[in-house]
Amino acid sequence: MDKRQVLIFDTTLRDGEQVPGCKLNTPQKIEIAKQLELLGVDVIEAGFPISSPGDFNSVVEISKSVSEPIICGLSRGVKKDIEVAAEALKYAKRPRIHTGIGTSPSHIKYKFKSTPELIMERAISAVKHAKSFVEDVEFYAEDAGRTDNEYLARVCEAVIKAGATVLNIPDTTGYCLPDEYGAKIKYLMDNVRGIENVIISAHCHNDLGLATANSISAVMNGARQIECTINGIGERAGNTSLEEVSMIMKQHPRLNVYNNINSKMLNPISRLVAERMGMFVQPNKAIVGSNAFAHSSGIHQDGVIKNRETYEIIDPEEVGVHESLIVLTARSGRAALAFRLHKIGYSITKLELDEIYQIFLEHADKKKEITDEDLHEIMKISNVAG
Ligand code: KIV
Ligand code: ZN
Repeated sequence: MDKRQVLIFDTTLRDGEQVPGCKLNTPQKIEIAKQLELLGVDVIEAGFPISSPGDFNSVVEISKSVSEPIICGLSRGVKKDIEVAAEALKYAKRPRIHTGIGTSPSHIKYKFKSTPELIMERAISAVKHAKSFVEDVEFYAEDAGRTDNEYLARVCEAVIKAGATVLNIPDTTGYCLPDEYGAKIKYLMDNVRGIENVIISAHCHNDLGLATANSISAVMNGARQIECTINGIGERAGNTSLEEVSMIMKQHPRLNVYNNINSKMLNPISRLVAERMGMFVQPNKAIVGSNAFAHSSGIHQDGVIKNRETYEIIDPEEVGVHESLIVLTARSGRAALAFRLHKIGYSITKLELDEIYQIFLEHADKKKEITDEDLHEIMKISNVAG
């Protein structure tokens, strides 16, 4: 069977930017949007135009500066929001309005003080109104993760009839388990009339650390778009991380899917977003953390030096990292020490290595990491010419 494409919808500039203290200005947003275009994302959610004049302006300017991906603007299921989003998107070559409403019992009862039937009517009107401005309308059922499947299916069917082209099923609170979220997607695939004519989109939050697993589970059950952010940034514990889902799809042929991400740009764009947002990436973050390709224990180092595949499932160059790191610590063995000494220009015999290794261990026990400068010092003390 032919591989199925999974579209990458990047929301770094909208959901990602909702992180406290991570405000970007318009030139910074344009800079990131241009890099996202080069990265190969299919959709850029450029902002929430009604939220502020700055956000409106960013959506306008990104629409003018980026031509390949679809440019999407968020709106609540409210007439004025939709009109402002349409206005902000007027320069986009391929505009999409993303509109919707909360569908879970708590959103209906506490946020809207409404009823399921009235919410359904509002959803239909929102999609119809958006459709009067653009052809491409994505509908989000906020808190779909905690929405009853049967009601959710009815809402989906109604908004498809009203003209929605994409159905976003957000796990807004990051509550679902992967099998549960996957089953929700499958339920919609099996029970919504017209579903074959639209794209189901996974939009997961990471409150329980399950955003990536849930997004992949959605893909395994029929979702054809994943909404995600660079470095997984976003509200609270963040959104699904783009680098993780794109590489999972690349690494696992069994999924029988592909995406258009140019993986060599993953590390450079991660650093750009971290820097512009002033939000550093945790060292052990998959794919883009500084330790993602660093080996520090003797057993692992020995293996990687013999053959990278022993402890690495991804070639670092494939994600834009020049090479794996062999970090020298008190846990390192002779192989790693010899490897690093060789890299910085020393060639030593096996006997000399034994002597240097003892001095190395004395130093390493006092320090977290032995640097190249430390190694030069150790070589001086050892009296080995190298
Ligand atoms: O998490 C969410 O439900 C959202 C929607 C507004 C799409 O971000
Ligand atoms: Zn979200």
